[in-house]
Amino acid sequence: MNRSEMLHGKHAVIFGAGGSIGSAIARQFATEGAEVCLSGRNAARVHEVAKAISNDGGRARAAAIDALDEVAVDSYLNEIAKRAGRIDIAFNAMGSDPRAYGNGKNTVDLSVEEFMLPLTSMVKSWFITARASARHMVKQHSGVILFLTGSPARGHVEGATSIGTAFGAIETFMENLAFQVGRAGVRVVCLRTTANVDSAAIEQTVAILSDRSKVPKDEIVAQIASLNFLKVPARVADTAKTAAFLVSDRARMITGTVVNSSAGRRWIDRSSAGFAQLWRRSKKVLARVDFAARRATISGRTTRARVAWVPKLQDGAAGSGRRKMSASAGFERHCRQSLYRRLCHERVCLVVPQHERSLQGSRRFA
Ligand SMILES: NC(=O)c1ccc[n+]([C@@H]2O[C@H](COP(=O)([O-])OP(=O)(O)OC[C@H]3O[C@@H](n4cnc5c(N)ncnc54)[C@H](OP(=O)(O)O)[C@@H]3O)[C@@H](O)[C@H]2O)c1
Repeated sequence: MNRSEMLHGKHAVIFGAGGSIGSAIARQFATEGAEVCLSGRNAARVHEVAKAISNDGGRARAAAIDALDEVAVDSYLNEIAKRAGRIDIAFNAMGSDPRAYGNGKNTVDLSVEEFMLPLTSMVKSWFITARASARHMVKQHSGVILFLTGSPARGHVEGATSIGTAFGAIETFMENLAFQVGRAGVRVVCLRTTANVDSAAIEQTVAILSDRSKVPKDEIVAQIASLNFLKVPARVADTAKTAAFLVSDRARMITGTVVNSSAGRRWIDRSSAGFAQLWRRSKKVLARVDFAARRATISGRTTRARVAWVPKLQDGAAGSGRRKMSASAGFERHCRQSLYRRLCHERVCLVVPQHERSLQGSRRFA
């Protein structure tokens, strides 16, 4: 293991440390010289991570702690503070199953339970662990609490409403907490990344999207990468390295802010090569806009044969495919109106055929 002194002598606690991001961050903190106290719901998994760190020459301890159990978290942190003398770094990487919170679903198809899940699990847990850590850090007049969110904290992708809302909530909580503990010398920072394609959560999300849209998984991963400025996929190691810097003394003037590590990703715009899709309640894909290929596909079921409308969006002509739609013109119009509405909502600037420009953004589509 290549060791640096960046976190030398620090005591770090990591909740949900058995997951993709929690374990990567634990390994990175240990590599940088911190003693890491790992906990998770699944004891076997965190012991495995701690063992790997120890085998590699790092200092790690493992415990089974449910990060939603307020009493267990408080007493766990009390024990660590008593033994180690201080808690320098706190990070919670607990997460729920993306299928359970309806990742990949359009907002109108989400159930209340799916929408609420990240709020009642992740946000609740992040509050419990941050509050308990802050109580120790305020007393010792130092420490860093790190949060991790993703780019859906600012809505820009299909199917991320539940998790995006939770990320937005945690970013606001971070600012409030930072303001209130700052005078005691405690820093609170949020790292906002984009989808880490080698994490379990994103692998699952890709599988859901692929299943729903019938687009191959590797194409979806490529599209995720193409949505950022650098056109490269983010990996858990990237997140872990930035996290280590943020909790180190090198970042001592960074607090109360979201550090955007999404390679520039905010939302899809004209310059992005991505895709947007519109689903029916029946889950049938109605329309798909491929920004890379600059074309849209709108399909309907008003005829038995699957009808596709594939105009070259940048060209003046809509293409011969449009004539095929004449049999289901009403349906086509409905699809196009819905698609424009959806895209306008997502702040997509759609490049459309010349003859359609007057339609885009008009009141008829609002
Ligand atoms: N992956 C990304 O690209 C990305 C980007 C931005 C933000 N995030 C956020 O980062 C967090 C971690 O993501 P991930 O991809 O590493 O997910 P992950 O691999 O599924 O890890 C989540 C971990 O949380 C644990 N956990 C669940 N409930 C718990 C509880 N009550 N107490 C303690 N541990 C609990 C899980 O343990 P079990 O094995 O027992 O279920 C699992 O080990 C999530 O909140 C996610 O939203 C992820």
